[in-house]
Amino acid sequence: MTRIFVFTNHKGGVGKSTSATNTAFGIASMLRRAGASNPRVLLIDTDSQSHATLVTTGTKDFGADDSLYSVLMADRQNAAQTLLNCIVQSTWDENLHVLPASPMLEGAERELMGIAGAPYRLADPLSRIANRYAAIVIDTRPSFSLMTEMGLIAATDAIVPVEPRYLETVGLMSVIGKINDIREGWRIQNLRVSGILVTKMNSRIRGHNHLLNELKGHSVLGKLLVGVIPSNEAVSYAHQNHLSIFSYDPKAPASKAYAQFVGRLVQRIAQGGA
Ligand SMILES: Nc1ncnc2c1ncn2[C@@H]1O[C@H](COP(=O)(O)OP(=O)(O)OP(=O)(O)O)[C@@H](O)[C@H]1O
Ligand SMILES: [Mg+2]
Repeated sequence: MTRIFVFTNHKGGVGKSTSATNTAFGIASMLRRAGASNPRVLLIDTDSQSHATLVTTGTKDFGADDSLYSVLMADRQNAAQTLLNCIVQSTWDENLHVLPASPMLEGAERELMGIAGAPYRLADPLSRIANRYAAIVIDTRPSFSLMTEMGLIAATDAIVPVEPRYLETVGLMSVIGKINDIREGWRIQNLRVSGILVTKMNSRIRGHNHLLNELKGHSVLGKLLVGVIPSNEAVSYAHQNHLSIFSYDPKAPASKAYAQFVGRLVQRIAQGGA
């Protein structure tokens, strides 16, 4: 079964899109280097802000006929084919494919509200095409809206990026609770919280070190910690240049940290289980 990683946190600006895009690219490159027969990765952008779409394709000019919006609005029978038709190749790597977001997704939530089966409008078609990919990565918007719920329902592994600040980490338990609610409420047996990714870590800030240590020592959260990404200006420069952090500066501290994190995910993909 193809692993589907969803990056989610209702807090804004914590590094969801940065992590989703670089992880998707990182998995594809690592698998290719390892000689995998299928190193293709699909990145799905469910955020109407289209940041992940913009940096990985160079444009966010997608709308009614060529984006995730089209998939959500398609008839059940046509949705999987519509999904395939809307996928574009990323400018980052030929093995990285993107299902683009669109500003129209903002309205889609209202349009789909109350329609039977609406929360499954991503999961259903995706399950029919998932085996074409070695892994799928979903970026979500900073809220627990219907769009985010759709991303979680479609996924197998939820990764929660979080900044090492007091109020952020306090909110962690509620994010994890919400993901577990979706798992139980919709009976999504395959979905689990599979990692906490600390982002924008500055080890010169005492409060950051304190919170990271608290997290590591926490009986539940400590076991979920899967990576620590340092605060690193190269990330913003990479965004400005529409490049992955790995291509922008492979020696940057954030590149090395993301490579380590991606390595752990690739190991999980290879093992198939936990
Ligand atoms: N490790 C990092 N070091 C420095 N800056 C970073 C790092 N990670 C992300 N940023 C910056 O933080 C900002 C927010 O990052 P990003 O867009 O990935 O967050 P997000 O959670 O997707 O935001 P939103 O909730 O709006 O979707 C961006 O300007 C990005 O360049
Ligand atoms: Mg984002």
